[in-house]
Amino acid sequence: MTEDRIYSLPLSRVGDFEFDDDVADVFPDMIRRSVPGYASMLSMIGQCAETYILPETNVYDLGCSLGAATFAVRQNAVPDCRIHAVDSSAAMVARLRRTVGVETSEGAAVEVHEADIREVAVRNASFVVLNLTLQFLPPQERDSFVDRVSSGILPGGAMLLSEKISFSDAAENRLMTTLHHDFKRAHGYSDLEIAQKRTAIENRLVPETLQVHIERLRRAGFSTVCPWFQCFNFASVLAVK
Ligand SMILES: C[S@@+](CC[C@H](N)C(=O)[O-])C[C@H]1O[C@@H](n2cnc3c(N)ncnc32)[C@H](O)[C@@H]1O
Repeated sequence: MTEDRIYSLPLSRVGDFEFDDDVADVFPDMIRRSVPGYASMLSMIGQCAETYILPETNVYDLGCSLGAATFAVRQNAVPDCRIHAVDSSAAMVARLRRTVGVETSEGAAVEVHEADIREVAVRNASFVVLNLTLQFLPPQERDSFVDRVSSGILPGGAMLLSEKISFSDAAENRLMTTLHHDFKRAHGYSDLEIAQKRTAIENRLVPETLQVHIERLRRAGFSTVCPWFQCFNFASVLAVK
């Protein structure tokens, strides 16, 4: 695994964060050292795949990056479903296509799409994963996007949504941010790396409170909306139609 040193040297100007070749090359290390609980999220995505995926349905991993969730799903999916892994980053998609290409042909089919998730038609879906992706859509577009995805999910099907979250209470927000930065420091990031990454990502990743996510999912027609995981300022919710 290539070590993420992208923000280790002082930059004269910190540009907006992009999912480009440099990030794609170090992404497994970056996400493991930046998102507390990421391994648990992946493992439970695999478990939920086994619970919700039905034969002859579609499964979507929206904002799949290098396909960590896609592969967790595939391990547990019925063989006659079709998994659609979607990402708008050419760098991520090129690497994922290579990995999918060297996988054995056993198990469910995986189709990799280089596309904006807002343009993808979700149809006949038994399971949809949005693992740390919705946070990158402009907040004003999130309601209509989630409505549209929900309308493509079959009765009894589910969406698993993981996000970085904010807190309406300022003290709680400060505490969770401090604990998140402590987590990054404990995983080898310097104060400079933490500060420069924060500057780069703050215009790109807009977190919302867990309550805002829960209410949006209920409005979109999910009958059961269960937060199942939280570690500091990261949370995951299972929403069932
Ligand atoms: C934090 S990563 C997701 C991690 C991944 N789901 C996992 O479990 O390893 C966010 C991904 O969402 C993608 N993304 C952001 N906005 C997107 C959009 N509008 N359409 C498609 N992909 C998008 C980025 O290119 C990036 O690869």
